[in-house]
Amino acid sequence: MRQVVFAHFLTRLPGDAIIEFDICGEDGRAVYHNDSITINSRGHLVFGGCDTVELARTYKTPLYVMDEVAIRRAARHLRSALEDVYPDAEVIYASKAFCTVAMCRLVDEEGLSLDVSSGGELYTALVAGFPPEKIYFHGNNKSPEEIEMGLKAGIGRFMVDNLFELELINQLAGRLKKKADIILRITPGVEAHTHDYIRTGQIDSKFGIGITGGQAQRAVEKALAMDNVELRGFHCHIGSQIQEIEPYVLSAGIMMDFISDVRESTGFTASELDLGGGIGIRYVESDARMDLPSLFAAISKTIADKAERHGIPLPRLLIEPGRYIVGEAGITLYTVGAVKDIPGVRTYVAVDGGMADNPRVALYRAQYEAVVANKANLRPTAVVSIAGKACESGDMLIWDIELPRVEPGDIIAVLSTGAYTYSMASNYNRFPRPACVFVSEGEAYCVVERETYEDIIAKDRLPGAIGQARPSAAAL
Ligand code: LLP
Repeated sequence: MRQVVFAHFLTRLPGDAIIEFDICGEDGRAVYHNDSITINSRGHLVFGGCDTVELARTYKTPLYVMDEVAIRRAARHLRSALEDVYPDAEVIYASKAFCTVAMCRLVDEEGLSLDVSSGGELYTALVAGFPPEKIYFHGNNKSPEEIEMGLKAGIGRFMVDNLFELELINQLAGRLKKKADIILRITPGVEAHTHDYIRTGQIDSKFGIGITGGQAQRAVEKALAMDNVELRGFHCHIGSQIQEIEPYVLSAGIMMDFISDVRESTGFTASELDLGGGIGIRYVESDARMDLPSLFAAISKTIADKAERHGIPLPRLLIEPGRYIVGEAGITLYTVGAVKDIPGVRTYVAVDGGMADNPRVALYRAQYEAVVANKANLRPTAVVSIAGKACESGDMLIWDIELPRVEPGDIIAVLSTGAYTYSMASNYNRFPRPACVFVSEGEAYCVVERETYEDIIAKDRLPGAIGQARPSAAAL
């Protein structure tokens, strides 16, 4: 039976437009914000089938919680939507969004390839047993050690960012008697921002090789003349959290024109075109979800039209989404401590985490929705601001959100935090980094343990005279 319950808060939840309520027996199951979230009969927020208040009790807070089912769903949706319109295609998960050994395993199980952008991400993938030939190595300043690590592991592609790196890879591959498959990162002169994109003639970016001015063309010629690299194709990445189709269409067209120009001038035909990541997700109500079938249909039409016009074969199409796969699949749980009301000004609700586990608000003024997890069925009563516990005024999680009455001990769930939170976390103020738990249809398991104070000082040393000064120094 389907009917509306909790009508009093129905209009106040984030994402009114998609709220649905299912009643299963006595258990009011509410679905809102995204498919992972419901509310149980205790009025608790349920995520991935797990009561979040119980999760907070078991694993402590702050706590990253990721819904494994939602990650798999996003991965499958991407693959099927892309392959439906462009059969010779590959989805590469950009691990910078969220990278752990368990996540790499999951990505492999879903048949995706992996984008790593550092030795650390590569190491994580290799430890996870990720097939090296499906690894794409990004980064604008790979060290010789990182390049050697990739060469020895036999990774699939080096995504070459600049001429210095091209030389370095050629040299190191020669020394190791290997041939490195490479893709050149090109700056197409399209930059997309949320709700906005610009086309720049002059290219000012630390990433990639510009088309205008002929630099990219020269890089191709160089690569083709090298003995130890094999050029496979071209890559571009035009931005992140993109919610429009147009900038992708524009960059796909520019890249196809480039492929054609290169073919005319050198005879080389690129067999791979990587259009990068950037697909936007829903953080707050005003964020539109990208319509994947429309996006991929538009991209593939542009590529097909250009291929026909230029008389070139269709390249294998690669995309590298990170945020889309994990962003909405994650929430972060916090416990409320001090609640400070400044009459007539603002109420600060301080939680036990903040910018150290999620620096996106301080860095980008990112916006989030939140729910009081143990009062998920109560109506909002006031506007408050959720503050972190770091020694920085800018350490805020949410400015001005309507919530039910918040008291010390309440559990706050910040939504859509699966991407670029754990992966960007720090030990600022020597806060131990939180644990990360995967949930799946009511089961929870820890994929990253919470750091301890011992972990925090594990690499500290007391050298020389400083070490002599205190007897307790021997412990280090
Ligand atoms: N490929 C390349 C070459 C990239 O540089 C990136 C992201 C991606 C793929 C994946 O983009 P996504 O699909 O996740 O948007 N820390 C920022 C985001 C930085 C993205 C950097 N590059 C944030 O928290 O919003």
